[in-house]
Amino acid sequence: MKPDIERVLFSEEDLHKVAQRLGKQLSVDYADKNPLVICVLKGAILFMTDLVREMDIPLEIDFMDVSSYGDGTVSSGEVRILKDLDTSVFQRNVLIVEDIVDTGRTLSYLMKLLKTREAKSIKICTLMDKQDRRVMNVKADYIGFEVPNEFVVGYGLDYAQHYRNLPYIGVLKPEIYENK
Ligand code: XMP
Ligand code: MG
Repeated sequence: MKPDIERVLFSEEDLHKVAQRLGKQLSVDYADKNPLVICVLKGAILFMTDLVREMDIPLEIDFMDVSSYGDGTVSSGEVRILKDLDTSVFQRNVLIVEDIVDTGRTLSYLMKLLKTREAKSIKICTLMDKQDRRVMNVKADYIGFEVPNEFVVGYGLDYAQHYRNLPYIGVLKPEIYENK
C-alpha cells in the first residue's frame, strides 16, 4: 500500500467482482438495445473499461468531460462541458457511467442535457454512491458500492490529478490535503 493511503476500501478483487455483477445485470437489461455507454472523464475511465468487458452484448462507447463551476462554493449546479460526445444520443438508449455520485450536480446537469437532446432512455451506472452529500435529486440506477463521506482515490479517482493509476480504491490520509 502507498504511504499516502490510510486504508484500502475496495481491493482489486472487490472491483473486479463488482464490474462482473453490474456487467451481467446490464447485459440482461440492455440485450438488443444497443446502448450508448458514456464514460464521464476522467474518473470513470478504469471502471468503464472493466464494465464493458463484462457486457456480452452489442454496444457503443463514447466519452464526455465536464467540470463543475466554482469548486463547490457556488451551489448553482452549473457545469461546463470540456469535451462533448462524438455520437448523437437522439433516440438512443444511453447509459452514463460515473465513478462516484457526490452532490449529484454533475449528473443532474448531464441528465437534463441528454433529455433535451432527446435520448430514448437515460440511466446511470455509478461505481460508488456517497448518499450523505447529495443536494440534487439524482438516483443512480446501478450502484457498485455505497461509500461513507470520506475522500477516496484510486481506480480512476484522483487527488490533484494523482493516484488515478492505483489498482484499488483507498482513503487518502488527511495530512495529504491538510498540508496543502
Ligand atoms: P457531484 O458533486 O457533481 O460530483 O456529484 C461528482 C464528482 O466529484 C468528484 N468526487 C470525488 N473525487 N474522490 C474523488 O477523487 C472523492 O471522494 C470524490 N467525491 C466526489 C468526482 O469527480 C465525481 O465525478
Ligand atoms: Mg467523475
